[in-house]
Amino acid sequence: MKKTLVFKVNPKSPDIQTIHIAARIIRDGGLVAFPTETVYGLGADALNPNAVKALFKAKKRPLDNPPIVHVGNIQDVYRLAKDVPEEAEKLMKNFWPGPLTLIFKRSEIVPDITVASLDTIAIRMPRHNVALALIRESGCPIAAPSANLAGKPSPTTAQHVLDDLYGRIDAILDAGPTKIGVESTVLDLTVDPPQILRPGGTPYEVLKAALGRVELHPVAVAEKKVLVGKARSPGVKHRHYAPKARLFVVEGSLAAVVRKVAELTDYYRRSGEKVGVLATDETAGAYGADVVKSLGSRSNMEEIARNLFRLLREFDAEGVDVIIAEGVPAEGLGLAVMNRLRKASGYKIVKASF
Ligand code: TXA
Ligand code: MG
Repeated sequence: MKKTLVFKVNPKSPDIQTIHIAARIIRDGGLVAFPTETVYGLGADALNPNAVKALFKAKKRPLDNPPIVHVGNIQDVYRLAKDVPEEAEKLMKNFWPGPLTLIFKRSEIVPDITVASLDTIAIRMPRHNVALALIRESGCPIAAPSANLAGKPSPTTAQHVLDDLYGRIDAILDAGPTKIGVESTVLDLTVDPPQILRPGGTPYEVLKAALGRVELHPVAVAEKKVLVGKARSPGVKHRHYAPKARLFVVEGSLAAVVRKVAELTDYYRRSGEKVGVLATDETAGAYGADVVKSLGSRSNMEEIARNLFRLLREFDAEGVDVIIAEGVPAEGLGLAVMNRLRKASGYKIVKASF
């Protein structure tokens, strides 16, 4: 067990001494958790195979699911990737730094372990001053998956990271809760038209407006378990975002959803289970569950996305046996929310109708 160093930093203008220490740890092959605008990441020098190996081990992450490589400038993309298509330049200019990860053909300088031996690489530039300062000061691209134990909800606070990884990593930079709360959108630029493999902080509709042609891969919609080749969507066969409790997600028109959630709540409570309901401000009063938590207002999808992973972790802390979650419209950021909920449920999706 390591002693994990915890540094509080100002999210806007992090103290340079602290960044120096953290960057030194990265350069020496260590592991540093840091905030981004989406979720906390667990960073290692992407070009150091031993460091990346330690990263997989700390997270207990299967070796076939490669991390995203974070860069602090666009030039680095041309070192890490080859055959960078023209549309990538437009996307990088318009959406970086920001919650958009691009998949390219990889270059020879990238160690096999960093890309799980695929011939592609996932790269993004995060919009967070702490992340950018750390990457730039380290002088290397930083491989950073979300800083949770594999299979758990992603961390949106430093405490979530410590709950999962204390003693397993060298340090964490704590800059408070993250803004977006769901991970970046993963867009594959090695196919034509480009395909979204994971919906996230940059909505499909926004990319569609920018690119004209863009498709949603079935794994991004996640309405059911889809079997795909590892090269297209590594890691989909593994469980993701899952709380300890069994989770059901109820989808349909709002009135039908509320009725179904109430019905399921009664059913499981009568069976003697402790039931949690994941509701919204507009509906939370309708349920007689053991624990009711609201994601926020249905008119504010940003708020809902920001609260999602935190509330899933809170249900675990309350020790509920079953979580029944209301679905939200799968539009804008709502598509990312529904992707996470559907996967977290292990595709236990209940369709509600009258
Ligand atoms: O917002 C985010 O993206 C956060 C923060 C820390 O930047 N990072 C994150 O990383 O969510 P991670 O490792 O938890 O998720 C990376 C996703 C996985 O779904 C992985 O399968 C996919 O990116 N991925 C990585 N390399 C890929 C590749 N070459 N081809 C297709 N998908 C890839
Ligand atoms: Mg993750």
